[in-house]
Amino acid sequence: MSERAKDRPVVALDGPAGAGKSTVARAVAKALGFLYVDTGALYRGVALAAKEKGVSWEDGEALGALTRALDLDFEATDEGPRLLIDGIDRAPDIRTPDVADGASKVSQHEPVRAALLDVQRQLGAAGAVVFEGRDIGTVVFPDAEVKLFLTATPEARARRRVGDLMERGKDADYGSILEAIRERDARDSSRAVAPLKPAADATTLDTTDLGFDEVVEAVVAAVREAMAR
Ligand code: DC
Repeated sequence: MSERAKDRPVVALDGPAGAGKSTVARAVAKALGFLYVDTGALYRGVALAAKEKGVSWEDGEALGALTRALDLDFEATDEGPRLLIDGIDRAPDIRTPDVADGASKVSQHEPVRAALLDVQRQLGAAGAVVFEGRDIGTVVFPDAEVKLFLTATPEARARRRVGDLMERGKDADYGSILEAIRERDARDSSRAVAPLKPAADATTLDTTDLGFDEVVEAVVAAVREAMAR
């Protein structure tokens, strides 16, 4: 049993890139008045800091030391949480394709994962948090009160990504986006440390044919049920 109060659960929302975790996690956190922690942003922050400091994305030991020296935190805003690195808002700089690629690479290294484990557990210590990630239910909070694994077919995820980009007036090529999603999936699920897989006690939610509101409602219902237990 965890030390958390019953009305302050940890909600683990894991799954592959593009399954809709971010938008769902944000909406669920808002509906419940919980904190929302985007753990992918932490890996992106490490990749960005490494690039700026000249640390290779392949050097696990150096990346571990760098991660332990960084002050990683989130600032809550109306548009959602923004990643602070050493007190500076770096949210705009972590969403580039280059940093996404770096995040996938740095996340393979055990010293990085170990350092970020501490950061994540501190962020969730008081409960009432929705964590979005890959290994929240398996590794970071194996005792999370609610564990959901969101999936969708690679094609559905690529289509959503194209839609998002076009909405923001950016160019989007379906074929290359689909290929990038497949590559990232393969890397994230085959890595030796904390590979992407649902926890044995997680509920899998395939969002391919579900509308956004339906997914949010299903997650909020699961959390309320856990709080009433
Ligand atoms: O969710 P995202 O695209 O921001 O994640 C960036 C990378 O970080 C992704 O390639 C997988 C990795 N990641 C991870 O290994 N563990 C997490 N809990 C979250 C993200």
